[in-house]
Order: sequence, then structure tokens, then C-alpha cells
Amino acid sequence: MTNTMKIAVYNARNYDKRYFDRFNRKFGHELLYIDTHLDRDTLVLAGDAPAICIFVNDPVQEPLLESMRDRGVKMLALRSAGFNHVDIATANKLGILVANVPGYSPYAVAEHAAALTLGLVRRIVRAHARVREGNFSLEGLMGFDLHGKTVGVVGTGKIGTVFSRIMHGFGCELLGVDPVENAECRHLGMRYVPLQTLCRQSDIISLHCPLLPETRHLIDSDAIAQMRDGVCLINTSRGAVIDTAAIIRGLKSGKIGYLGMDVYEEEDSLFFEDHSDTVLSDDIFARLLTFNNVLITGHQGFFTREAMTNITRTTLGNVAEFEKTGQCENTLIAPR
Ligand code: NAI
Repeated sequence: MTNTMKIAVYNARNYDKRYFDRFNRKFGHELLYIDTHLDRDTLVLAGDAPAICIFVNDPVQEPLLESMRDRGVKMLALRSAGFNHVDIATANKLGILVANVPGYSPYAVAEHAAALTLGLVRRIVRAHARVREGNFSLEGLMGFDLHGKTVGVVGTGKIGTVFSRIMHGFGCELLGVDPVENAECRHLGMRYVPLQTLCRQSDIISLHCPLLPETRHLIDSDAIAQMRDGVCLINTSRGAVIDTAAIIRGLKSGKIGYLGMDVYEEEDSLFFEDHSDTVLSDDIFARLLTFNNVLITGHQGFFTREAMTNITRTTLGNVAEFEKTGQCENTLIAPR
């Protein structure tokens, strides 16, 4: 299959270019790499490209979509599974097809959530820093066994299910919250319970639901108050699923014993860039960095060779399918 659709790839990093160039040999699209964010000012850089490809840190709302329509953009190809950063309803209305990459590697994110959990409860980062300093004291490094602990999984879709399988392998009991129950999780012994019960009974809570109006600040002061003292909270879903200010209060009081996060409410202006030469102006993020029981990564849960391969292939395939048929299996339609 050869196609010649021009795709403006925004926020193109070296690793994106490597993977896109490699897999585009089969597709033959014309790729225009743009190393900046997509917004109304940078849209002009796409020239006459009918397809625009973005990542999770490019918010696309109504005014930008209107400008895209006016410039003849026909397709917005998301190289992500999450799509909370795009106003899908308006895109549908304006006739711009939006496609995502569903389920490119649930293992990548689930294994990252497991890595954050283990890194925190066994204090790996702190221990490593000490050993490098020649300090072999174990004071303050005591962890706990995962075996026999209760793990609460909020969102038992593709990623939540793989995470549940991993935690089941450690010998954990599983609790789940999801409007749609998953047969595989049930088979692992998961009990579906209301969020309040999950908060009350879990030693570890891991978030794997999408960011939707109803999941924004799902983990707020009330939910935190229900949690066990010293709970381990892991968020690899989307930053705004937790109320970060409430989380900081929970960390200060000791209610939250461990926090692992790969996503942050205000990550758009921080993540995926090197800010090491500038002053950190986000006071909330700066406060999070002061806790020795907080482990933060900059939205790298997806970032494995396997996931990048699937993301790139599916994104290029989505555009090829759209060019050939005017449709795409991975089209996103807003609920009515
Ligand atoms: P999925 O669609 O397979 O699963 C999401 C699950 O959440 C579904 O079972 C759904 O019923 C459930 N859900 C919806 N509303 C809920 C609610 N109010 N309470 C509890 N559960 C609810 O999606 P998948 O592939 O498992 O991804 C989950 C999320 O992970 C994505 O939406 C995205 O935000 C995040 N993600 C993060 C990445 C990272 O690099 N950190 C990479 C990829 C995805």
C-alpha cells in the first residue's frame, strides 16, 4: 500500500522521527516534522497538510479546530490512546476526523505502574542515592511485602487488567472500581466495590481510568480521608484524576504514605521538555518534589520500544485508511 498524504507531525522529538521514518517506508506518506506545540500560531507551519498528528501535550479546542477546518485540515491523528486533550464533539461537528491509537501496549503502562509501586515501597531511589554516597545505613529504608496486600484498581480496562494480573502474581488481593466489570479481573479474584470501599480497604491504589468529566478529581479530599493511613497511591492515568492540592495535604498529614505519579494536572507546560536551565515556577509541583516518599516520572509510562512501534504503525495506518476509504476504524466519536 503506498500513500502520499502529507502529515504535519507536531512536537516531533528525535525518537518520534526515528520511528516514523522507519515505519513510513511501508506507507510512503509525506512527513513534515515540526518540533513545536500545535496552537493557533503554529498551525501555519503545517502548510497545506490535510493531516495533523499530535501527542498528549497539545490541547485542541474549538477555536483551533475552526482554524484547522478553515485551512483544509481533514484529519487529526493522535499518537496516543488518551484523547481528553481534544474537543471531539466539535471536531465531529466540523467534519475533522479524529483517530487515536487504542491499546498500543497496555504492558508498557501497567509495568511502569508496577515499577513505581516497587520503587516506592522498597525505597529504591533513596537507597540508590545513599549507596552512591557510600552510605549503607538502612535507617528509613524499610519497605513492606506486596504479598498478601490489598490492591485497589480504579479502571479495569486494558491497562488496569494487565496491572491486576501483575499484582495477582505478587500474591495481592484485588479490589476494582469500574462501571464495566471485566471478566478476566473477576477470574483473578477481583471484587468490584464502590470507590469508598476500595479507598477504605486498599493498601495500594492504582488509577487506570480515563480523564472524563466524571473522573476529574475523583481522588479528592473526601476520597483521601477514606483511605488507609500510609496508603500507596499510584497515578499513571491522567493528572487531573487526582486533586493535587488535596494529595499534598494527604502527604503532609501522613495519610498518603507513598505517591507515585507519571502524570500531573499541569503537565502540559512542564513535561517532555528540558527545563533544567530555568527556575521551576509551579509551586505545587515544587512542593511535591520535596517529599522523600514521592516518585515522579514525566509521562513515560508509554515509552517502550514495543509501544512506540505500535503507536507509529497504527498512526500511519490510521492516516492511510482515511486516505483510502475516507474513514478509519479508530475514529473517535463524542457521546451524544
Ligand atoms: P481502557 O479504555 O481500556 O480502560 C479504561 C477503563 O476505565 C474502562 O474499563 C472504563 O470502563 C473505566 N472507567 C471509565 N469511567 C470510570 C470511572 N468513573 N471509574 C472507574 N473506571 C472508569 O483504557 P486503557 O488503555 O486501559 O487506558 C487507561 C488510561 O490510561 C487512558 O485513558 C490514559 O488516560 C492512560 N494512559 C496513560 C499512559 C501513560 O503513558 N502514562 C499511556 C496510555 C494511557
